[in-house]
Amino acid sequence: MPTETSLEKKYKKGIIDQTATYIKSRLEGEGSGHDWWHVYRVWKNAVQIAQQENADLFLVELSALLHDIADWKFHDGNDEVGPMMARAWLENLSVDEAVIAHVCQIIKEVSFKGAGVITKMQTKEGKVVQDADRLDAIGAVGIARTFAYGGSKGREMYNPEIKPIMHLSFDEYKNSKSPTLNHFYEKLLLLKDLMNTSTARKMAEHRHQIMVDFLSEFFREWEGKV
Ligand code: NI
Repeated sequence: MPTETSLEKKYKKGIIDQTATYIKSRLEGEGSGHDWWHVYRVWKNAVQIAQQENADLFLVELSALLHDIADWKFHDGNDEVGPMMARAWLENLSVDEAVIAHVCQIIKEVSFKGAGVITKMQTKEGKVVQDADRLDAIGAVGIARTFAYGGSKGREMYNPEIKPIMHLSFDEYKNSKSPTLNHFYEKLLLLKDLMNTSTARKMAEHRHQIMVDFLSEFFREWEGKV
């Protein structure tokens, strides 16, 4: 006879697996760095952090998997679409209302909206998912994603005549046309100090250094100094 706990485990694994398959089919092949493999990496980062921080794994995994179901960057800045789609999916699987409400709240709060815009996560699970998402924006993968995203928006790779700006509002950040390299100064180099959990802060150190090294090499090569 299976115990209640193993039944519950099996139920949760079923929901997670179905959600992963659904998101994979929705986002596969997306070319701007918000594809299935981004979600996959965030999911893996989130599990690592959740285990260290004793967060609720089921909530964390579901939120990580659903966090980019409809990213605001691709829906004219509407950040209501993601939570709505996540809710429809989870209701379809008859997931508990308390779980659905928590997951939707996390998805709504998780996006980075500009250097001067504070997005404070309200729960431990939200903090874990936000950290996991931010970790995937930095380091070697972060560098690759940043250029992929800039390319998809038709932005210049770098233009020494355009200086980085710290966006003070969500609208300013959303409508920014600045070259991709500026994004390192407007967002990516700030992320290390914005991590919510000490586990993610440790993971961010190495990834941060990779970007610092990349930038100094980039500028040297730009002026023919290497
Ligand atoms: Ni994301």
